[in-house]
Amino acid sequence: MKHLINFKVNGISHSMEVTSNTTLLALLRDSLKLKGTKKACGTGDCGACTVLVDGKAVNSCIYLALNIDGKEVLTVEGLSKNGKLDFLQEAFIDEGAVQCGYCTPGMLMSAKALLDEHPNPTEEQIRIGLAGNVCRCTGYEQIIQAIKTAAKKRSEYEFQDKES
Ligand code: FES
Ligand code: FES
Repeated sequence: MKHLINFKVNGISHSMEVTSNTTLLALLRDSLKLKGTKKACGTGDCGACTVLVDGKAVNSCIYLALNIDGKEVLTVEGLSKNGKLDFLQEAFIDEGAVQCGYCTPGMLMSAKALLDEHPNPTEEQIRIGLAGNVCRCTGYEQIIQAIKTAAKKRSEYEFQDKES
């Protein structure tokens, strides 16, 4: 059975028919051709497929597309604005936190949800925020440092923006 759902992805409105078992990951990658969101385990265990739904991080491989009806989805493609990278993307590059590339989009999206909720996170909050993102090639140190750097730069920018 098909269901008509209405939603936004990265600010763009869509109206689409999905089946009861279509995953959000399939909708993003196969229907909308947004290939930045990766499929790795496919069972909700690794975080590679993380996107935000109404600001909350979800594993899109086990999240039903039906559940985004009336909601807003943010994927890694939506992080940059007007050709300018997000603070997190810049910090991942500057701190050498971009690794295999399969996990990075999910890491960025989990970090985005974290910083939106905790603009100045403690190291423990960062580690908890990344707990669902599994990477086998790193000790996570550069990633944690990048999130700290992004938080600092973002709060400095927001402070300057208020002052001007
Ligand atoms: S691919 Fe979704 S959690 Fe691993
Ligand atoms: S960044 Fe993907 S396995 Fe380490």
